[in-house]
Amino acid sequence: MSAKNTSPNSSLRSPNSAAVTLHGHLQSLPSDLAKLIESFGLISLDMQTQFPKYLGGSSGDKNKYGEATAKLDNWANGYMCDALIKTGLVRTIHSEELREPLYHNDTAPFVVTLDPLDGSSNIGTNNPFGIILGIYRDDLPQVGRKLEAAVYKLYGPVNTLVYSVSGGDGVHEFVKHYHADGHAEFLLLNKNIKLPKKGGVFGIGANPADWNPRFAAFAQGLHAKDGLKTRYSGSFVADFSQVLHMGGFFSYPATKKIPDGKFRLYYECIPLSFLCEEAGGASWDGSASGDSVLDRIDNDVDARTPVYLGNKELIDRLKKEMRK
Ligand code: AHG
Ligand code: MN
Ligand code: MN
Repeated sequence: MSAKNTSPNSSLRSPNSAAVTLHGHLQSLPSDLAKLIESFGLISLDMQTQFPKYLGGSSGDKNKYGEATAKLDNWANGYMCDALIKTGLVRTIHSEELREPLYHNDTAPFVVTLDPLDGSSNIGTNNPFGIILGIYRDDLPQVGRKLEAAVYKLYGPVNTLVYSVSGGDGVHEFVKHYHADGHAEFLLLNKNIKLPKKGGVFGIGANPADWNPRFAAFAQGLHAKDGLKTRYSGSFVADFSQVLHMGGFFSYPATKKIPDGKFRLYYECIPLSFLCEEAGGASWDGSASGDSVLDRIDNDVDARTPVYLGNKELIDRLKKEMRK
């Protein structure tokens, strides 16, 4: 199964033979995990060909968080869940857009968490959005450190896919290329990505008027002291991709109005915190004990959490300033 390039007169150069394909890069992994990650990548490319049909606004219903869902949220969730089940590798899907977990054959090796469309407010404006996948061998709930792999797909000016596996060799990024015969394939763009030591950008959600004053002072310092530039796009995946490549900080913080934060622990924060830490960064769940998001234990798979992630030096400084 591979996405077809529908523009026969595409001027894209076909990749050189030395290019590393996603398929080739995954061969060092256990074959079932490699197959699931590659299948996810191909499904995400195939999905994109249908997006134009579902751009128009709200689906008219609400998800389990009480949020109005976009037509594309619902369609993408249905398409991705069906396709993941068809791989025969997934026994349970926990999705932000499913009211209950989807159980399939209980002999399949993996349990997955899914944000089928991250950045829904960007659908109607053609701004970047993505998909977030967490892969476990054991049943949930459990701590994020038990992730086998975290993967995100980013629909930007180009199609990229980023993954890392537990005990692996880092965070790797692939971009969709077209071969001369028109078929599309993910080729390696950046391997073993590490957050640059000196951060470049930061993005923070929620209303600054509701931020904790000490957090607000820290955020102010990111501009004034660290010279970081503001980048906040409406998609966690897109904003995280900027921190991953340019270094810096991202947060959707606890505020007096949302003390538990807005983001979902399992569907969004654990996979992206996993990637951040595999890339040499750090994450914090806002707890007094200063825990990494990956150490957060929550029996509620639908739980929300405050999230702070980025360069380790910034996370350490934030935790210190919040404890004063
Ligand atoms: P989703 O589209 O899956 O609901 O996620 C949206 C999240 C995150 O991707 C984004 O950074 C944030 O919500 C934007 O929130 P605000 O609109 O409150 O800024
Ligand atoms: Mn999301
Ligand atoms: Mn979503």
